[in-house]
Amino acid sequence: MSLTAESHRVPLSDGNSIPLLGLGTYADPQKPGEAIYPRDENGKIIYHETNLCATWEAMEACKDAGLAKSIGVSNFNRRQLEMILNKPGLKHKPVSNQVECHPYFTQPKLLEFCRQHDIVIVGYSPLGTSRDETWVNVSSPPLLEDPVLNAIGKKYNKTAAQVALRFSIQRGVVVIPKSFNPQRIRENFQIFDFSLTEKEMKEIEALNKNVRYVELLMWRDHPEYPFNDEY
Ligand code: A2P
Repeated sequence: MSLTAESHRVPLSDGNSIPLLGLGTYADPQKPGEAIYPRDENGKIIYHETNLCATWEAMEACKDAGLAKSIGVSNFNRRQLEMILNKPGLKHKPVSNQVECHPYFTQPKLLEFCRQHDIVIVGYSPLGTSRDETWVNVSSPPLLEDPVLNAIGKKYNKTAAQVALRFSIQRGVVVIPKSFNPQRIRENFQIFDFSLTEKEMKEIEALNKNVRYVELLMWRDHPEYPFNDEY
C-alpha cells in the first residue's frame, strides 16, 4: 500500500481508506462523497461503515512507516479500548485516548482503566467548552463560574480556569485548552508555579456531575457511538 504523506490517505484492509490525521483534526463518521452529512430519504445520516480494528492496523502501518511518532484514539470507551488492546497481532498500543475531561466530568473509571494500561488521557474541553448551543449540552452549568474553583483560585491569585487546568495536569490528564485571546492563552500556560493540596484536589474531584458537555447526540445511532456505556 502507498503510505506516503503525498497520497494523504491510507488504505484499510476492509477496502476503505482514512485520511492522514494530525493532532486536533478528526474525520466525521460519514459516507465518502460531496455532502458533509449525507442523509437517506428518511433524513437519517448515512454512516461510513468503519472497522475500528482495521483502522487501527492502518494507523500502526503509519507509525511503522515513520509517518507518525505516536498513535492514539479519541472518544473510545472501555469496550472499544479493550477491543484494540485485545486485537490479535496488535503491534502498537494506543498511547492516548482523547476524551472530555474537567472538574464537572472527571472520568474516574476511564482514567483508572487507562492508567492501568499506560494510556494517557488527553482532556478536551478542559475549561468547560465555549458553550456553543449548536453542539454543547448547556444544561450543565458553566464550569468557570464554579464557586469552589473561584475560591481556590483566590487563595493562589489564580483564575478558575487556571485552577481547572492545574487540577487536570496534577492528576496526570493532559489538557488542550482553546482560546482565541492572547492574554488568556498566556494565562492558560501559567499553571506550573503553584500546586493544589490533596484536600483541594478532593474538593474539586467532588464537583464531578458526570454530565457531558459534548454528547455528540447527532451520532447516537452509530453502531460505535461510545457514550451509551457507563465508561
Ligand atoms: P476565548 O477564546 O474567548 O478565550 P475549552 O478549552 O474547554 O474548549 O474552552 C474554550 C472556551 O474557554 C472558549 O470560549 C474560550 O474563550 C474560553 N477560555 C479559554 N481560556 C480561558 C481563560 N483563561 N479564562 C476564561 N475563559 C477562557
